[in-house]
Amino acid sequence: MRIEVSPPPRINLRVPQSSQADINAVTRLCAVLGRPIAHSASPAMQNAAFKALGLNWRYLAFEVDPKNLRAAIEGALAMNFAGLNLTVPHKLLAVEMMDELDDSAKMFGAVNTIKFEVVRSKVRAIGYNTDADAIAISLREELKLKLRGARVLLLGAGGAGRTAALKLAFENVAELFLANRTASKAEALAREIRKRFPAVQVVAGYPKAKVDLVLNATSLGLKRGDPPPLDEKRFPLRQTRAVYDMIYCPAETRLLGAAKKAGCKTANGLGMLLHQGAKAFRIWTGKPAPLDVMRLALKSTVYSPRSPVIAGSRKVNYESNSKI
Ligand code: ATR
Repeated sequence: MRIEVSPPPRINLRVPQSSQADINAVTRLCAVLGRPIAHSASPAMQNAAFKALGLNWRYLAFEVDPKNLRAAIEGALAMNFAGLNLTVPHKLLAVEMMDELDDSAKMFGAVNTIKFEVVRSKVRAIGYNTDADAIAISLREELKLKLRGARVLLLGAGGAGRTAALKLAFENVAELFLANRTASKAEALAREIRKRFPAVQVVAGYPKAKVDLVLNATSLGLKRGDPPPLDEKRFPLRQTRAVYDMIYCPAETRLLGAAKKAGCKTANGLGMLLHQGAKAFRIWTGKPAPLDVMRLALKSTVYSPRSPVIAGSRKVNYESNSKI
């Protein structure tokens, strides 16, 4: 019998110089749990950060069915993991599974970061939310936006939309307009915000006058051929100063392209992904995150032609927030 032998794959033998210790018996572990997970850029971002700081830490990704989430968290705790990130569909489910919730997780009702902490010789799982802060940081950093007193049109009232709306209200925006395909969800969110943040004017629907920001928190734009999330007949883009799209892949959605043409300042959701990860890094290691290294690792992972993010394109995960 003739066996076809294909040529051996070309292997790049030039291994980049690294200040990172080899994996050994004291390597600290973190991981992201989600389903699906193959698209996640978090391992590239976090491992680049560990390496830059010379830490003997590694970050992995596991596909976990929601029915196994509790077992997976308990397993990580039992195996002395330093911490976890959670992405879709685990962020809400995990709230009930924590030993303690940080104020951030209580405020937004979702956990995207867990720290395993030894308290009186017992390990406890402490749940945090770093997604919400990441939204505000990214808006300020990339759009130079002052949230206090701003008028914002938020598109979407799903997981990401809810976190964004609550965070914007917490940051004292003056007026918040909530537009969503399912109007009842926007109305329910508006009621929640009125109750929790009475100083914020909330309207379910499109604004009649100019706003400072249009923020897309829907999933429209992820797929080629998606209609734009904004109904420009009801609200033309020239009526806003800036547009932020939580979707970061493709880097320029139809919405962002149209916003640029209309002369708006624009940014995509990569900054949110970066800052939720940077905050998680700080929570686990106690050290400031090397933002430039993490941003570079994210960009080269997300926008590389072989990127699994492109193959399974998502917005931050927010993750919820399914954008991370
Ligand atoms: P995430 O966690 O990413 O926010 P989600 O909770 O499923 O995901 O929310 C998706 C958001 O995109 C919702 O606001 C959803 O609108 P509905 O509440 O009406 O479902 C919005 N969305 C998804 N597909 C849409 C479509 N084809 N047209 C308009 N809005 C859409």
